[in-house]
Amino acid sequence: MKTRKVGIIGLGHVGAHVAYSLAIQGIAAELVLVDPKESKLAAEVQDLRDAILYCPHDVKINGGTYADLGDCDAIVNCIGDIDLVASGDRLDELTFTAAQVKGYIHKVMASGFNGFIVNITNPCDVITNILYRESGLPKGHVIGTGTGLDTSRLVSALSLQTGVSPQSISAYMIGEHGASQMAAWSCVNFNGIPLSSLEHEDPKFAFDKPELQKRAIGGGWVTYSGKHCTEYGICSTAARMVRCIFNDEQRIMPASMLLDGEYGEKDVFVGVPVLLGKNGAERVLELPLTAEELANFHKCCDDVRKNIKTAEG
Ligand code: LAC
Repeated sequence: MKTRKVGIIGLGHVGAHVAYSLAIQGIAAELVLVDPKESKLAAEVQDLRDAILYCPHDVKINGGTYADLGDCDAIVNCIGDIDLVASGDRLDELTFTAAQVKGYIHKVMASGFNGFIVNITNPCDVITNILYRESGLPKGHVIGTGTGLDTSRLVSALSLQTGVSPQSISAYMIGEHGASQMAAWSCVNFNGIPLSSLEHEDPKFAFDKPELQKRAIGGGWVTYSGKHCTEYGICSTAARMVRCIFNDEQRIMPASMLLDGEYGEKDVFVGVPVLLGKNGAERVLELPLTAEELANFHKCCDDVRKNIKTAEG
C-alpha cells in the first residue's frame, strides 16, 4: 500500500470510532475526515489529534472535503442519521443515506480516487451496491461490513454458550445485514470439530439454534436501545477489513460483496465469506450449505434485491 491514507466520510459515533480504531491500531498513517457539519468535523479532528501523542503510532489527521479524498488508499463510508431509525429497522435510513452517497460519490471520483471503499452506512448491502454502481470502481474494490459484524455477534453468543474462545470458533451469519440474515449452522465448527458432532457429546453444544441466531440478529438492537447507536463492534469490523487490504492478509471473513454466480446468485450484494487482500475482496467463498440453508439464503438475496429496487426509486 502506498501511503495507508484513509478517508472517513461521516463523523457520527461510528465514523469517529472508526477513525480512532484505525489510528490506535496503526492501520492508517493518515486520516482525512469529511463531514457536512463543520463544527463536528473540527471537534473530531481536534479530539483525535489530542490522542496521538500517547498512541503507539504517529498518525496525520486532517479535516477535508470530498475533493481531498483523491489520493486516499481507502475510504470508509459512515454517513447516516441514526435518529431516522425509528421503527428498529435499518431500512428507515434508506431514503436519506441513498441520497447522501449518490450526492457525493461523483465528487469523490472526480478527485481521482481509485482505492477501496468499505461501506458501513445502512441499509448496508443496498448502499454498498449504490457505491459500487455509481463509483465505477472494479468489483472487489467496494465492499460492505455487512454480516461481518453479525458474525462477530454470533461467535460471541456461541462463545458465551459453550465456553470456547471466539478465536476457536468458525461460524458465519450470511445474507442481508438486516432482519432476514441467517446462521449457516451446518458449517459451524470449533477449530475443525463440527457442531453437529459436539452437540451429541456435550449439552453445552446442544443449544437452541433459533434462539442463538435471534441473539446474533438482535445484538445490535440491545446496544442501540441502551446507547442509541452501536460503535465498537462495527468500527472493529471495518478496521479489520481495511487492515486485511493494506497488509494483503489473504484473510477469509464475512463481508457484503457482489455475487456473480456464487451460491447460484448474481448482481446482488450480500454478506458472504470473502478472501480479503491487496486487491480488496479477491474472491467469494462458497459455504457447503444444506439445501434448506441455500433456500433461505436465496430468500435473503431476494430481500436485498427488493430493497435495492426501492433505493432505485
Ligand atoms: C449494527 C449497525 C452497524 O448492526 O447496523 O450495529
